[in-house]
Amino acid sequence: MQKHWWHKATIYQIYPKSFMDANGDGLGDLKGITSKLDYLQKLGITAIWLSPVYQSPMDDNGYDISDYQAIADIFGSMADMDELLKEANSRGIKIIMDLVVNHTSDEHAWFIEARSNPESPERDYYIWRDQPNDLLSIFGGSAWEYDQASNQYYLHFFSKKQPDLNWENAELRQKIYDMMNFWIAKGIGGFRMDVIDMIGKIPDQKISSNGPKLHDYIKEMNQATFGQHDLLTVGETWGATPEIAKRYSEPDGQELSMVFQFEHVSLQHKPNAPKWDYEKELDVPELKNIFAKWQTELALGQGWNSLFWNNHDLPRVLSIWGNTGTYRQKSAKALAILLHLMRGTPYIYQGEEIGMVNYPFKDLSEINDIESLNYAQEALENGKTKEQIMDSICMIGRDNARTPMQWDRTKQAGFSVSDQTWLPVNPNYKDVNAAAALADPDSIFYTYQKLVGLRKECDWLIDADFELLETADKVFAYKRSLPDESYLIAVNLSDEEQDFELTDSYKETIISNTDENQAFANHKLQPWDAFCVRLN
Ligand code: GLC
Repeated sequence: MQKHWWHKATIYQIYPKSFMDANGDGLGDLKGITSKLDYLQKLGITAIWLSPVYQSPMDDNGYDISDYQAIADIFGSMADMDELLKEANSRGIKIIMDLVVNHTSDEHAWFIEARSNPESPERDYYIWRDQPNDLLSIFGGSAWEYDQASNQYYLHFFSKKQPDLNWENAELRQKIYDMMNFWIAKGIGGFRMDVIDMIGKIPDQKISSNGPKLHDYIKEMNQATFGQHDLLTVGETWGATPEIAKRYSEPDGQELSMVFQFEHVSLQHKPNAPKWDYEKELDVPELKNIFAKWQTELALGQGWNSLFWNNHDLPRVLSIWGNTGTYRQKSAKALAILLHLMRGTPYIYQGEEIGMVNYPFKDLSEINDIESLNYAQEALENGKTKEQIMDSICMIGRDNARTPMQWDRTKQAGFSVSDQTWLPVNPNYKDVNAAAALADPDSIFYTYQKLVGLRKECDWLIDADFELLETADKVFAYKRSLPDESYLIAVNLSDEEQDFELTDSYKETIISNTDENQAFANHKLQPWDAFCVRLN
């Protein structure tokens, strides 16, 4: 199998509004990101996945793009973007752009033309019908919005300011490929593809994702754009099964490098329930089954996994599955060790490497996210109490991941000199911040730094087979084996001591958050113990 740079890469996701504010307006910006590249270089990451920085009315914080080839004023200018690319590349850090081509903003020139002139070619770039069907928007309510002037409805699977593009239109597809090539020519490292599994939708048959032409479109895109370059491409595919993921990522498939699958994330809510019916008690045996399935099915040469706990749409993993009290640091390291030693490309979401947690929101007035606000309105109409709604939003709402990055113990955690930031800084910032983490050799940061380094150095992380081991329910242990080398990774995913009877001897410790000798001697794992040892 041909090896690519991204097989040994760890990617760091930046949510630009919340990373670093250089101009003091309370919002993060590109210059702010550039100013923190040395920090990222110290962490050792290979690439940044930059959530959207394009021109946008910010109805969905940039996932509603009004010009793909311009930078939003709040983030800076194209010159700032070029500067970021130059400075990042000079430190060996690639920039992966967010590609949002399932929909545009309703303020994109194409949609403005499509709406005002039904005879224009742009009309067919979007999806119009005389009558709506009962398709629902992921952000609540009908997926169809009435346009009075033309007496038709347009489709929007997200907010009504995010009209869906019609991928059946070949001219539109070509415009998208031209835009991608514009970014490739700037020297980017790849694309993260927003809800890419939806581009083959057939609304009349109520098919929203995994439509019949999806893979044809992706193959065509590959050939027309990144296929000629050694770029990382990762698709966001909520409904992917291992079978589907293989189709996207098999080495000769001429589609993508990998996809984000979300099966493990589905354990954050009750089975077959909306995400707001959250489930805080982690079903560890189920988590083990899910990861074991993905690790074995996307075997070497068959496909490639992406590995993540967090992103800008998810709660902070420590708040839902880790421990935010006594074991905050230890559980953060345990979750990191567990994930980063599997096969796949790991992703770190900003602040994860210092153990950031959910924000203690008290009132709906503090919420910014359109998905949470739409949910609150619908839930109120359906008779839920304000307390129930806030309880869900506090655990699951997307703003939890989006509060400002905590850099140090000064005002606004060093994120901004402004008195007001777009979302508030978590009150725990005096204890949880990057400066404190850098000053403490035993901090979460250095566990991540070590894991990122292992990923670059160790071929076994790519090549070795994966085997789930039989253990106590709350212990997640697996073996990675090659003919002449094998490694044991063991993690206690609980606040209680657990039995551990795996092996009596090992050769060398690769990484640990504990005294692993004790674990072997006593046949017990202490709360959130985690380590990797080489067995032979
Ligand atoms: C993806 C993004 C999310 C956005 C949605 C619509 O799921 O990750 O933030 O709201 O697509 O673009």
